[in-house]
Amino acid sequence: MKKILVLSLLASSFMVTAAFAAPAADNWDNNCTKCHSADGSGSGKMGKRLKLKNYTDAAVQAAMKDEDMVKAIKGGVRDEAGKERMKSFKDDLSDAEVNDLVAYIRNMKK
Ligand code: HEC
Repeated sequence: MKKILVLSLLASSFMVTAAFAAPAADNWDNNCTKCHSADGSGSGKMGKRLKLKNYTDAAVQAAMKDEDMVKAIKGGVRDEAGKERMKSFKDDLSDAEVNDLVAYIRNMKK
């Protein structure tokens, strides 16, 4: 009996932890499409103004490193003058969510 209780407690705490990580598609829609566009092309108004890379382009994807993508998402992006171009998402997204987003972006390649 005790064993079953412990097991079900373990299982439910596991489910709670999993529920905290939002799916990458939701995180992308909620935080990133404003600039990068839903398809990652950066072809919207903001994307054009900011001259964003087109993540549907295989050559663009090949030139990007996963670690730089993680760094950009966690630390944000600044221009040479130190002005913020993309905010840091390290307080909004867990490490797992950031990694999921990198994988999600990798899938945008056409
Ligand atoms: C305010 C507009 C804006 C928002 C919102 C935004 N970004 Fe960015 N992002 C930029 C800019 C500007 C750059 C730098 C130019 C570039 O790499 O195209 C950039 C660069 C990146 C890079 C770096 C790519 C490389 O070259 O290594 C990644 C990855 C990225 N963004 C992902 C995201 C993700 C994921 C989100 C949402 C959680 C997000 N961005 C939200 C503007 C934005």
